[in-house]
Amino acid sequence: MDSFGVYLHVPFCATRCGYCDFNTYTASQLGTAGPGATQGDYLDAIVRELQMAVANNPDAARPADTVFVGGGTPSLLGAEGLRKLLDGVRDTFGLADGAEVTTESNPESTSPEFFEGLKEAGFTRVSLGMQSAVPHVLATLDRTHTPGRPAAAVAEARAAGFEHINLDVIYGTPGESMADLDTTLEAVLATEVNHVSAYSLIVEPGTAMARKVRRGELPMPDDDDLADRYERIDAALSAAGFSWYEVSNWSKPGGACRHNMLYWRDGNWWGAGPGAHSHLDGRRFYNVKHPARYSAMVAAGELPVKDSEDLTPEDRHVEKIMLGLRLSEGVAAAALREEELRRARRQAEAGMLRFVGEGEGERVQLTDRGRLLADAIIVDILS
Ligand SMILES: C[S@@+](CC[C@H](N)C(=O)[O-])C[C@H]1O[C@@H](n2cnc3c(N)ncnc32)[C@H](O)[C@@H]1O
Ligand code: SF4
Repeated sequence: MDSFGVYLHVPFCATRCGYCDFNTYTASQLGTAGPGATQGDYLDAIVRELQMAVANNPDAARPADTVFVGGGTPSLLGAEGLRKLLDGVRDTFGLADGAEVTTESNPESTSPEFFEGLKEAGFTRVSLGMQSAVPHVLATLDRTHTPGRPAAAVAEARAAGFEHINLDVIYGTPGESMADLDTTLEAVLATEVNHVSAYSLIVEPGTAMARKVRRGELPMPDDDDLADRYERIDAALSAAGFSWYEVSNWSKPGGACRHNMLYWRDGNWWGAGPGAHSHLDGRRFYNVKHPARYSAMVAAGELPVKDSEDLTPEDRHVEKIMLGLRLSEGVAAAALREEELRRARRQAEAGMLRFVGEGEGERVQLTDRGRLLADAIIVDILS
């Protein structure tokens, strides 16, 4: 049977980073939101949501092979809060033997005791937002941790017994030189983590960073420059024994994130918490975003679902290709329709894709050049 995942969204951050448009709120934003939006209210509500999810969907309820606590800043809940979340999953869906259990954490809200508490609670993987190791880049990103704090947090997590540790990096921040990127890469490699996610800076509409770009205070990242940086990152990580398994994700052998693979392979997961999305056999639904509204709905005995849609076979086909082609394993050639296959062969002639294997086992995969233009190639194939 395919894997099943549970995602838990934590909608709190100590401060807001100017580039981020995730569903997250600072204490001062929530202070004026009325009752129901405290961390305590949230923890009670999400456990109740999990209980209702299982009671209302007995057919969908099965032990989780992967759990991912994302944010926002899950580490703001402390190890005790995160233990409560994980116990909520254990007592409802249940945890499969050998489950992968990840939490995201911000380096500045972690400590040796925090990681020891996580380990004891049953977490198996930690993902830390490093972004950069260079002070002026961190300042442009509004990050509050010191350049050295992420590496110290990795050492603490390892001392607590974590083998699976990820660092998130953002590249292409205005003002970041190639030498700055090299400094960050050296710092990442020195930690000896087994997973790296590297994202090009996206200037998201509606963020403080987008306003600075509009006012001319910051330049828009340049696509060619981002491609140069991507190649630099890939070369450094490959030389250190990492392999890419998704366009923005690299791991050492055995280090790929099983939860993210489940998303990219079009698997099933239940998402709990404000704004969380779920996918069950072609049905997608997502929760209301604001923590106060979320808690109020749960308190009223309602699943806090904002909307749902049944994906058409066409939607599912497009998603399968869009997500699958970004993976190093690619997609089965047989999954492509005749016209798509024709366009894929043209992209292969241009050196962007390759066909590997034969017959039913034939697959279509991005080449190294193709990875730099993955989104455009996928759009072309599906056009
Ligand atoms: C939602 S954050 C949660 C992790 C945690 N709060 C932190 O910041 O360390 C997950 C990751 O998404 C990435 N991210 C968020 N917004 C981004 C943007 N606009 N462009 C590129 N990467 C972004 C960052 O690398 C971040 O670590
Ligand atoms: S990047 Fe992380 S810490 Fe910054 S606002 Fe987004 S979720 Fe919060």
